[in-house]
Amino acid sequence: MRYFKPINSNIDFKKIKLQPEGEVIIRKLSDMVDMYQNQEAIKETLKENPIIYKFYNVKIPEDKGHLQHCISIVYPGKIGGEYYMTKGHFHKIKDTAEIYLTLKGRGKLVMQTPDNECKILEMKEGSISYIPPYWAHRTINIGKEPLIFFGVYRGDAGHNYGIIEKKVWL
Ligand code: F6R
Ligand code: ZN
Repeated sequence: MRYFKPINSNIDFKKIKLQPEGEVIIRKLSDMVDMYQNQEAIKETLKENPIIYKFYNVKIPEDKGHLQHCISIVYPGKIGGEYYMTKGHFHKIKDTAEIYLTLKGRGKLVMQTPDNECKILEMKEGSISYIPPYWAHRTINIGKEPLIFFGVYRGDAGHNYGIIEKKVWL
């Protein structure tokens, strides 16, 4: 049998990045215009098209015995009156949970079930947040510094953004 080899990743808090980088996903305002309400503010801010957040996924096989893990960085800022936030998603395999450990910054973790039950948890340095199976999740930076958190979830969970993109949240 060929075993997947143990690996280390390191967070560089000065450069705010993961090493090795793995897969880096950068989301700018243009990637998520439907997530914000204020059309005037969106139009104005699109001239600069800022990075709203990025995340570094460690390269792990998408198998259920593995654990995907990643570092997310949500930058501080607002579009109109709304804070910078992640798109948010359900996991493709809906009954898979996730854990977030907040490393830096201040945020809110907004969650919603398919039956529209909502729950919001505080995110601050040292918070360990449990996202149970079935809950969609989005993070919002409510502070002045980048919000940095570590996430761990089942290897094959996958992501479903479609429903969130179509639906008006809280
Ligand atoms: C993984 C997870 C996080 C997010 C990341 C970006 O399941 O919840 O790693 O993927 O914070 O947010 P989204 O994926 O909503 O763009
Ligand atoms: Zn997730």
